[in-house]
Amino acid sequence: MRRKLAAGNWKMNGGSAELTEIAGLIAAQPSPDCDVLICPPFTLIDRMSQAAEGAALNVGAQDCHANAKGAHTGDISVAMLADAGATSVIVGHSERRADHGESDADVKAKTEAVLAGGLTAIVCVGETLAQREAGETLAVIRAQLAGSVPADAPAELVVAYEPVWAIGTGLTPTLEQIAEVHDDMRAALVAALGAETANGIRLLYGGSVKPSNAAEIFAVSNVDGALVGGASLKAADFAGIVEAASAA
Ligand code: PGA
Repeated sequence: MRRKLAAGNWKMNGGSAELTEIAGLIAAQPSPDCDVLICPPFTLIDRMSQAAEGAALNVGAQDCHANAKGAHTGDISVAMLADAGATSVIVGHSERRADHGESDADVKAKTEAVLAGGLTAIVCVGETLAQREAGETLAVIRAQLAGSVPADAPAELVVAYEPVWAIGTGLTPTLEQIAEVHDDMRAALVAALGAETANGIRLLYGGSVKPSNAAEIFAVSNVDGALVGGASLKAADFAGIVEAASAA
């Protein structure tokens, strides 16, 4: 039985005010029956980790460099993130793929760095609207998984399916469409990594998850949690999603 994961991705949003609201989230859900993670901007990781000490809240990062150290101005290593208190790193988010031209090979190298650093990698995949309309969704997701997930990935890996057209738009796939992709991702991971490892990997859905649709999404086959953008910035909304994950 895979424990559900409610993960928040603040993207380039949030500051001290949102950080203060986290105390409200912790108070609302002192011991949820799921794992809870927030990935704030780099600048807040250290302070959020301190605020979350002893609470059922883990803190993660939204990206990292593939190298351990060196002359990479403006970049950040996995060891630095761990030192600040991060336990997970999102890699290959579609906004990184689009804004920074990250390829599957880049995402795999970052995933390897995260795993080597002892942190949890959350590998993101997802099709564009044009790819879905062309009937290419499953092929696109399979190619991204094959290119981004290392051959020796452990069961602690997390994969997030985020249709690009559902991110920040209020649009979501039907529950059948989510099930189709998640079942196919599980099958692809079983073929690549073996059943024992693949069946431990948590598959998150992401894209316009909110308190009102979280419960039905968590009930879908092979959905083990959510990666939440906009709704994770409002403590009350994120608490609603955590509650749905706990009840699932
Ligand atoms: P959204 O973003 O919840 O605002 O759609 C999801 C994500 O990009 O992780």
